[in-house]
Amino acid sequence: MYWHFHLDDQGFGPLAALFKRIAIQEMGHVERLAERIIFRKGDVEMVAAGPTEKVIDPQEILARAATMEQEAVTVYNQFALQAGQSADAATKQVFESLVNDEEGHYDQFDKQLENIKRFGPNYLALQSFGQAPAEAPAKEE
Ligand SMILES: [Fe+2]
Ligand SMILES: [Fe+2]
Repeated sequence: MYWHFHLDDQGFGPLAALFKRIAIQEMGHVERLAERIIFRKGDVEMVAAGPTEKVIDPQEILARAATMEQEAVTVYNQFALQAGQSADAATKQVFESLVNDEEGHYDQFDKQLENIKRFGPNYLALQSFGQAPAEAPAKEE
């Protein structure tokens, strides 16, 4: 969410929208994991896993986000294996489904990084041009 706010602020509309869509999917992941934990009679701590990384350069954001998705794929694959070994097929399916989503997220971030490599830094500048407002915003009374 922090990255979507900053990309939007810098005028990178389509990239900001991509981060917003994925942030909403990540909230869904938190819900699915919390529901599963509570079903298994555990409890959840509603606190951030760590401090927000204050990266605001678009290319750096994409690189960091792609790495985070790969890390998520690695740990969720391990958790799916552990759940299978514990004969907990439903938890295994949750993690397998998350792996699919995270690989999809990685793919979307990686495509953007590839486009920056192919078309150069102007690729992102052209995105911001496409998002210029069609008309001046209404004046506040
Ligand atoms: Fe996720
Ligand atoms: Fe993800």
